Formats: sequence, C-alpha cells, structure tokens
Amino acid sequence: MGILNMMEKVRVIPVAVVESPAEACVLADAMQDAGILILEITFRTPGAVEAIRHLRETRPEMMVGAGTILTLVQAEQALHAGACFMVSPGLDEEMVAWCRSAGIPLIPGVATPSEVMAALRHGLHVLKFFPAEAMGGVNTLKALAPVFPHARFIPTGGIHAGNLVDYLRLPNVIACGGTWLADRRLIREGRREDLARLAREARALAEQAKGSAASSE
Ligand code: 3PG
Repeated sequence: MGILNMMEKVRVIPVAVVESPAEACVLADAMQDAGILILEITFRTPGAVEAIRHLRETRPEMMVGAGTILTLVQAEQALHAGACFMVSPGLDEEMVAWCRSAGIPLIPGVATPSEVMAALRHGLHVLKFFPAEAMGGVNTLKALAPVFPHARFIPTGGIHAGNLVDYLRLPNVIACGGTWLADRRLIREGRREDLARLAREARALAEQAKGSAASSE
C-alpha cells in the first residue's frame, strides 16, 4: 500500500516529538495495535534522525515520514535515515526541487490561496493545511474547495478528538495530522495501551465522519 492509500484508509497521521528510538517504538507499536501504519517523526528533537532510522530498520512495515523539515540539510538527513515522505510547515521551492530529484514525496504546508497556487504550479496536490485551526479551520477549507478542486489537504495544527469529525467529513480533506495522537507524556511513560486507545478512538471518529460526509454540505 502506498502512503496516500494509507492516509486515505486510516485518515489520521500521528505527529510525534520523540527523544529516542525507544520512545518512537512505543508510539509505533501502539499505532500498529490500532491499525495505523503511518506516522510522522518531527525534526524538533536531536533524536529524530535516530528514531526514524531505528523504526525503518526494526519496523519496516511502518511508513515513517519526517516532519517539521525546514532545511535541505534536514531533508538529506531524513532521507538517509530512511524516511519515506517529508512534511514541511511551509512551501520552499528549493525543497520541492530537491525532494523531486531525490524521488521522495513532499507534503508542503500551505495556509493561503497564493501558497496553494504555488504548490499546484509545482505539481503538488497533496498539501498540509497548517496551522489549521489558527487559519480558519473547517471554514477556510470549505472556501478553498470550489476554487481549488484538485487540491487535497491534510489539516494539522489544533486538531483533536473533539473537532476531528468536522474536518474529516470535508471532501477535500484526505486525513488529519496531529500531536494529540502522540501524547508526549504517554510516550515517555511507555503507555502503549493508552496510546492505542487514543488511536482507536480516532479511527472510530473517522468512520463516523464517513457516515456523515454526504450530509455535510
Ligand atoms: C505539526 O507539526 O504538524 C503541528 O505542530 C501539529 O500541531 P498540533 O500539536 O496542534 O497537533
């Protein structure tokens, strides 16, 4: 299964801030328990590179993306560690070109119509809508839909179990990303069961969104 298919299937992407490979494993195993074989490890800690490398080596079935990629140096480190996709909070043309030549999918962040236009011009249709809640959330995505029928979004930033369904019922939303699925305290304390419970709850909400999608307009 490809990355996009997995995102469409599970409809949530855990965004993790981890300090070590051991922490990454707690999260990955919990997600696997809940049938979520995709996650994003952010480059916000010095341990991110090793965490990605370790997951790829020990849990090859897991689709591990690298997030918060701000520079080409980080992109290169992530690629060498085995990341299978990159996520950036913004749109950087140099990074778009680099990822294309390296053959790794990039999901750039966009927050405005001009940024969506720039991404589409580069042939990128799968976009992170960030920071989702702060940029108008569901209402902004609804307003973008008729203007950009080919753009598909992964809203991230301020999403949690309480507003997930509102996002997932939008036809232009593929999946939602967020740190609420990768609670730092639960990870630190090794609470795999509790993390898996959060993930199952999110998947149940995604099912609920499927049921109500047709009546959302
Ligand atoms: C990201 O890196 O995608 C966001 O910071 C996640 O936002 P959240 O913490 O509100 O989920």
